[in-house]
Amino acid sequence: MSIGSARHAIAIYPGSFDPLTMGHMDVIGRAAAIFQRVLVAVVVNPQKREPLFTLDERKTMIAASIHDAELANVDVTDFRGLLADFVRAQNVDVIVKGLRFVSDFENEMSTALMNRSLSSVDTVFMPSDPRYSFISSSMVKEVFFLGGTIDEYVPLAVLRTMRDKRDGLR
Ligand code: PNS
Repeated sequence: MSIGSARHAIAIYPGSFDPLTMGHMDVIGRAAAIFQRVLVAVVVNPQKREPLFTLDERKTMIAASIHDAELANVDVTDFRGLLADFVRAQNVDVIVKGLRFVSDFENEMSTALMNRSLSSVDTVFMPSDPRYSFISSSMVKEVFFLGGTIDEYVPLAVLRTMRDKRDGLR
């Protein structure tokens, strides 16, 4: 894919988004400025652990945050199974991944090579904004549920849903 054709490319940004953070939003916004269309693809069953938020909650928080950020060329969807199969079925041109630290790179590099081998679709890595490079979904959940302030680290729609979740757990 040439740089010029990026303007006509469909990009996919896959993840667990449990929940969406400002780090994710930063990558989505920058990808939206480069590619014609960005699909934020929420994995139905994350491999790592049982998600705190249901698939519907995760997608609703993303849709609201995309709307609030006025990103007209970004949509949210979900997938199960192999990302490579979904990418081929959706005629996606490129996979976008954010990179925070070298440790992210080690895992993402092999994943990118496997995804390209399975689907012929390449992965573009986007370095995270230093303001958000220490943020992860698991960290914001831990800080929030232990009483810390996370207002800077998640979009407003996420903060509201997290408050509802906390109040429901009480
Ligand atoms: O936000 P995460 O948890 O880092 O996202 C990881 C995700 C969902 C992108 C990754 O686990 C994935 O693509 N899962 C789908 C299953 C798959 O295709 N596995 C093979 C990759 S080598």
